[in-house]
Amino acid sequence: MSLMHPTPTISIQNIKGGVAKTTTADATAEALAEKGFKVALVDLDGGDSTESLSDPEGIPFNAEALDLTVIDALMNDVDPTDILLPTYHPNLFLLPSNESITELEVNLILSNQRKQWRFLLKKVLSKLKGFDYLIIDGPPSMGVRAIMALAASDLVVIPVEAQAIPLKKVPAMRNAIENVQALINPDFTFKFLLTRVMKRTILGRDAMNELRRACPNNVFETFIPFRIQIAEAPIAGQTILTYKPRSEGARAYRAFSEEIIHEFQSKNQRKTTHRIV
Ligand SMILES: Nc1ncnc2c1ncn2[C@@H]1O[C@H](COP(=O)(O)OP(=O)(O)OP(=O)(O)O)[C@@H](O)[C@H]1O
Ligand SMILES: [Mg+2]
Repeated sequence: MSLMHPTPTISIQNIKGGVAKTTTADATAEALAEKGFKVALVDLDGGDSTESLSDPEGIPFNAEALDLTVIDALMNDVDPTDILLPTYHPNLFLLPSNESITELEVNLILSNQRKQWRFLLKKVLSKLKGFDYLIIDGPPSMGVRAIMALAASDLVVIPVEAQAIPLKKVPAMRNAIENVQALINPDFTFKFLLTRVMKRTILGRDAMNELRRACPNNVFETFIPFRIQIAEAPIAGQTILTYKPRSEGARAYRAFSEEIIHEFQSKNQRKTTHRIV
């Protein structure tokens, strides 16, 4: 199925929970917004991204109190543009969700749409016009929501915690992603992002080196340090970029967003070269 959605789409995915997917989705979205890009953040994580951010008046969103969410776009054909919420950053918009998104998985599998659900999110996102980047905050699983996100993505960012146990799960994640790539969407590239890095510990440094050795071309240069301020920011309904703009965490996510921009520039160059050849 070929549904064109020209807006660069990045999903943040890992089968493992608590690896900073939501933190990375929110902070990367704001870092790109800060650079002047118009960004939509798509919450497929049951309200986690939604509840980490706040509205233009600085009031944190209450996911369960929202009239419309991404579920209405996926299930009831509501135009996603009518669901988008402005946030405290003028360039950053949110396609919110809440906990009922878990029911969506069952409904989609049982519904008569059967296999078409794979491209449902891609179809919904193709209706969002005028954005420079779309960022999807994924769930901690490889179920319906993750597959829909992968089908809609140009770039998949896999946050990995720089610790021994999370690194053991990297091969399983890689296999799962490569299977989806082969079967559903050969067009995305994927790369690991080291997060919650305690760089002063030998364990942290070893874990970083090990991942870089195992996947030399698939690890972002930037890594995100472990900083309590990064964990405090969502309590204020902000990402680290607004919460502590000059902190090391904010600087790391800004550097990461530069890599994302560069990634798309090289992707486009590769596409152009292909066409010329
Ligand atoms: N660099 C960091 N330094 C310190 N704490 C962090 C950092 N990144 C994320 N955290 C904290 O780690 C916890 C997990 O992060 P987050 O919620 O982003 O993970 P997740 O992968 O989205 O989790 P889930 O699988 O439940 O959706 C949160 O409390 C978050 O604030
Ligand atoms: Mg999350």
